[in-house]
Amino acid sequence: MMRPAVPLAGVIGNPIGHSRSPLMHRHWLRRYGIRGDYVPLQVAEGDLETVVRALPRMGFVGTNVTLPHKAAVMRFTDHLSDRAILIGAVNTLIFREDGTIYGDNTDGYGFMANVRQAVPDWDPKAGPAVVLGAGGAARAIIVALADAGVPTILLSNRTRAKSEALKAEFGQRIKIVDWVQAGNVMEDAAIVINTTSLGMTGQPELRVPLDGLQPNTIVTDIVYAPLQTLFLQRAAAMGCVTVDGLGMLLHQGVPGFERWFGKRPEVDDALRAAVLS
Ligand code: ATR
Repeated sequence: MMRPAVPLAGVIGNPIGHSRSPLMHRHWLRRYGIRGDYVPLQVAEGDLETVVRALPRMGFVGTNVTLPHKAAVMRFTDHLSDRAILIGAVNTLIFREDGTIYGDNTDGYGFMANVRQAVPDWDPKAGPAVVLGAGGAARAIIVALADAGVPTILLSNRTRAKSEALKAEFGQRIKIVDWVQAGNVMEDAAIVINTTSLGMTGQPELRVPLDGLQPNTIVTDIVYAPLQTLFLQRAAAMGCVTVDGLGMLLHQGVPGFERWFGKRPEVDDALRAAVLS
């Protein structure tokens, strides 16, 4: 297959109208003067394989993949990155010129890059991480934390069985904390991460007690609507270093854009403004 004159990328999901990824990638395309486009692609589950296999024939060089297709798409990728296999989900597809499809997962990378950009002197090896939630986002973040050498992951989820399943898979580094006890491990944390949907506009607030937090603890949220969740506001009031969730979304887009369009894009205030507009 020849490289298309106007390379296209996009994001496959269902629904997809709320996705901020087109704003992000179009900002980068404009900024770097690259000819190409990035479009939202609403695809029903039964059409997923047909659509993905057709896209390279109409000029697509790759796509992002979001809910509910992140696991299903793995069935028909030709190659998967190690991190996609470990996480058990794909969020980035690369359509190679030899016709094969490569699947990667950049969510954990996006998480780490966001915290590292906001807190450059963070040493993951220095202390335990408290992870709230045990869903798909937690999986990606746990894989990234373990890879970066975080010594202990204190994992707390409303449904304990899901924490236990993650511990069975990812090992001894994980210590399970009952959901109602999560407030009691805050004083041990070097970093606290909300990976649940609590605090998102329209969802209940995350009410975990934070009074045990040390002032230098990093507190971060994957929720970015609102940008300053009540959880982050409460942590900031305790003197913690807070990192909002928008940066994770922005950084997870970097490896895909680089592979598709040949330019490693920057995550900066102009990008944040474009995506928030
Ligand atoms: P994602 O892929 O975004 O992580 P998910 O897999 O549906 O989404 O996971 C959502 C997370 O938010 C889970 O940890 C879920 O807890 P349960 O495993 O107990 O369902 C958590 N969550 C959602 N609503 C919650 C609520 N009202 N109270 C506590 N946790 C909640």
